[in-house]
Amino acid sequence: MIMDRKKAVEAAAEKFAELMYSQLERVDLMDAEPDFTDFSKLDKIVIGICGGDGIGPMISSVSRDILEFLLGEDIKSGKAELKTIEGLTIENRIAQNKPIPGDVLEELKSCHVILKGPTETPQAGDGRPNIESANVAMRKALDLFANVRPVKVPGLGIDWTFFRENTEGAYAIGSKGFTIGNLAVDFTVTTDPGSERIAKLAFEFAKNNNKDHVTIVTKANVIKTTDGKFLDICNATAKDYPGIKVSERYVDIMAAELINDVRRRDFQVFILPNLYGDILTDEAAEFQGGVGTAGSANIGKKYAMFEAIHGTAPRMIKEGRAKYANPSSLLRASVLLLSHIGYQNRAKILERALDVCTLEEKKLVIDSRGTGATCAEFGDYVKETILKVM
Ligand code: IPM
Ligand code: MG
Repeated sequence: MIMDRKKAVEAAAEKFAELMYSQLERVDLMDAEPDFTDFSKLDKIVIGICGGDGIGPMISSVSRDILEFLLGEDIKSGKAELKTIEGLTIENRIAQNKPIPGDVLEELKSCHVILKGPTETPQAGDGRPNIESANVAMRKALDLFANVRPVKVPGLGIDWTFFRENTEGAYAIGSKGFTIGNLAVDFTVTTDPGSERIAKLAFEFAKNNNKDHVTIVTKANVIKTTDGKFLDICNATAKDYPGIKVSERYVDIMAAELINDVRRRDFQVFILPNLYGDILTDEAAEFQGGVGTAGSANIGKKYAMFEAIHGTAPRMIKEGRAKYANPSSLLRASVLLLSHIGYQNRAKILERALDVCTLEEKKLVIDSRGTGATCAEFGDYVKETILKVM
């Protein structure tokens, strides 16, 4: 028995060593990474569109249509291209036993930016192969280190932008934990360059967008080594931005303060490790009308991917309500995409049209329960509104 235990621990130590080497290699790559792509210098910008699973193909086809509408002239002149990427489906991923099949990854890499519908992830123990989430795999494969998630509700005084670290924390080797008998272990990873680059992006955003308050969210009182490092590095970065007030919150009290009607008005920009960012951004989106209404930008130095923050809505599919899926979140993601590649004006037009359609005029209501407008009808409403606000 004691021998077995010793062997199991030694085998685990060996696996652990491999994980450490691969993470150290990742640090080396980050240290050598190039600067951000300058989209204004490209002759042509290639935008990949990936349908994904469940309601994904439905909401991404409406989003594609609207991007085509907004970029019509540039597509005609060859300055922009919309490229459909097939094969990022749960069936294909299971068949190839890969979170992103090799040929699909090559296609993704042939684009500058990607608009992606939600993808399904098998849950541990559901009988399907334990493949990693395609989102998480794509964030890692394309090194999309910043997950930027804006939430705005003017009526409640809410104007927040979350900078969620997107490649490290609990997600870095989240599918590579292991068990020894009755013991299960997972790992959380924080690195200097990984924390520096997200902190810098958040402070630069604050500086360039007249925000004077950045809040660093951790649980450094308990998760001392990794969250402690994240907090120290964010605070060190803050020194380069003297005009910006910096506050710190532990994630538990942060979750509470977001629902405090008075205190939440003070917050503007948040920097968070991966898992806390995942949780708090769903909470935050709820004020705006739920995860169906929030877009998400996954930004890296070379590539960027834009997506909804919600999942594939399997219940809607099962109950035959897919055509009522709400495309708002992917359309909000399209706003972020347009702005990222330098089409600020068109991003503003789409954002304005979405505000009119979802917050102000609300001529068509899309409730996803199958009683309101369909996804396609809503898309037409957004297009008509674009023409009015242009
Ligand atoms: C998100 C999602 C993903 C995450 C899931 C689908 C793996 O919840 O984008 O927030 O946890 O990051
Ligand atoms: Mg999430």
